[in-house]
Amino acid sequence: MSDGGALDPLAPDEPDAYPPLPEEDGLFARGIDGQLVRMDKVTAADFDTRITIRIDGRPVTVPKAVPLADSQGKLLRDAEGRPIPRATTIHDAATLAYADDPGGNPIPVLCHQEHLEPAGVCRVCCVEIAKVKRGSMQRERKLLPACQHRVEETMEVQTIRSPDLAARQRIDANVRTLVNLLATDHLPADWRSALPANELGRLAERLDELALEARALERAAAAAAGAPPPDEAALHFLRHFRLQAQAPLQ
Ligand code: FES
Repeated sequence: MSDGGALDPLAPDEPDAYPPLPEEDGLFARGIDGQLVRMDKVTAADFDTRITIRIDGRPVTVPKAVPLADSQGKLLRDAEGRPIPRATTIHDAATLAYADDPGGNPIPVLCHQEHLEPAGVCRVCCVEIAKVKRGSMQRERKLLPACQHRVEETMEVQTIRSPDLAARQRIDANVRTLVNLLATDHLPADWRSALPANELGRLAERLDELALEARALERAAAAAAGAPPPDEAALHFLRHFRLQAQAPLQ
């Protein structure tokens, strides 16, 4: 114990003098009802646990964990030679849910690349999530990054290609804002003619295709409801969110 005098900086720490530091918050720590909580650790048993979720209305069943691999796809193993589990993410599940779609996984990614350590910083992979809480399906207030967020039972996920047009527009507006900000700093004025386009340029072009697809869906929904085509609203949507780096819409 200390004698109450001046602190000796070289003296060893007393046991329990300080509470142990918490482990650094992992990628799967999440705010729930305003509190930061740690999600359960992934274990080898999760390889055999199946979870069914819906992505854009498509049911998909995935293992709760998959083997951790390096950027070359080589499985990483622990000291005893066993595969190391990592949590299956919504982005992983979307790849499976859209396996038969020519466009493939609709969730865009920028910082989540195979040759990079997971960082989860760009947020262009954001999705809308709802899940059963206290007995009823509830939508998360915030959009969450699909490249980090693990799959959970009862989850219903809307992506930037969701048939739920309201969710789709919320996600699109967020991604478009992020891409606009990044494009201002990182895309040259002539980026469209500078081929091959980098990931950011390709994502900017993809957003255009998605906006046109959304417009067609809006028209179809209006026709099915017997309402006049929402041309002006759709045009406003496109013009408002069109990337600044692009030519004006004709
Ligand atoms: S791709 Fe960057 S946060 Fe998910």
